[in-house]
Amino acid sequence: MASVMLSGTEKLTLRTLTGNGLGFTGSDLHGKNFPRVSFVATTSAKVPNFRSLVVPKCSVSASRPTSQPRFIQHKKEAFWFYRFLSIVYDHVINPGHWTEDMRDDALEPADLNDRNMIVVDVGGGTGFTTLGIVKHVDAKNVTILDQSPHQLAKAKQKEPLKECKIIEGDAEDLPFRTDYADRYVSAGSIEYWPDPQRGIKEAYRVLKLGAKACLIGPVYPTFWLSRFFADVWMLFPKEEEYIEWFQKAGFKDVQLKRIGPKWYRGVRRHGLIMGCSVTGVKPASGDSPLQLGPKEEDVEKSVNPFVFALRFVLGALAATWFVLVPIYMWLKDQVVPKGQPI
Ligand SMILES: C[S@@+](CC[C@H](N)C(=O)[O-])C[C@H]1O[C@@H](n2cnc3c(N)ncnc32)[C@H](O)[C@@H]1O
Repeated sequence: MASVMLSGTEKLTLRTLTGNGLGFTGSDLHGKNFPRVSFVATTSAKVPNFRSLVVPKCSVSASRPTSQPRFIQHKKEAFWFYRFLSIVYDHVINPGHWTEDMRDDALEPADLNDRNMIVVDVGGGTGFTTLGIVKHVDAKNVTILDQSPHQLAKAKQKEPLKECKIIEGDAEDLPFRTDYADRYVSAGSIEYWPDPQRGIKEAYRVLKLGAKACLIGPVYPTFWLSRFFADVWMLFPKEEEYIEWFQKAGFKDVQLKRIGPKWYRGVRRHGLIMGCSVTGVKPASGDSPLQLGPKEEDVEKSVNPFVFALRFVLGALAATWFVLVPIYMWLKDQVVPKGQPI
């Protein structure tokens, strides 16, 4: 268990309970079970038996330092990225990063406890996460939204999703009325949103009073080379960034559960494309109290095709690193004796 204590507005402190012997330090974990992490805003500075690690104040990712160009963290680039990736997404990409076990583990905090719930799956893509949702909720009550028609075409082919509503749309500007859904789920999509805070504010808006958002996403690597490729490719938020976005949007009872492929044995230094499941409850009906300016990216605006192609190729090349990492970790898992850290 760990909790982030907000001290004023300037500092986030990640406190990790070490009494369970798992030895979690920062994001480099050596344990099979990932802990549920509760984040509470409080002024209390000391909690006995907790080891504290001060982390920098998180930046809202819309403004990108040049060291973090994130070439695919734009809607147009993500559109073209998934134009090609959709062909192999379910069979080649997911097995290394996003398994059925992980999906079920990540959806557990969403509390999908009633078949009649209205659920929106934002950035639902090929419907891999939706397949986990419809185990608990009637498909006719589930809407899959994605900006990629190519990804959605794959979802439409899946028999268990035949009754779902499948629509094209933008996570940062959802076509649902305020106070509409019982659950908002989004898995592996936030990394492509130019303005994640806006997407989470939308999650808040479309939920009913007392309803829950469950956002599953990557975590930032700590190993330098993985960090370099992550920064070139797309957004890998830090855990405390998710929490800040949720809290700023107005969510209460914000919790973060760490997830990862079994063969990583808890290692997170290379980052994870699916590394955590963050949940929050909407405490009041209506729109989010957070005020934001105009959208970060104007998709109608023309772009220089040469610059676009260059960004796209560099971003896609950086992404290749994260196809290799799970293979490397899988091999390590085979070689290093069980029970030892890898
Ligand atoms: C890694 S896939 C995840 C798909 C699915 N949720 C799953 O669990 O397999 C990311 C998806 O987010 C979609 N996406 C990216 N930016 C988006 C946006 N602004 N609005 C809606 N969908 C978006 C992409 O088209 C893609 O299908």
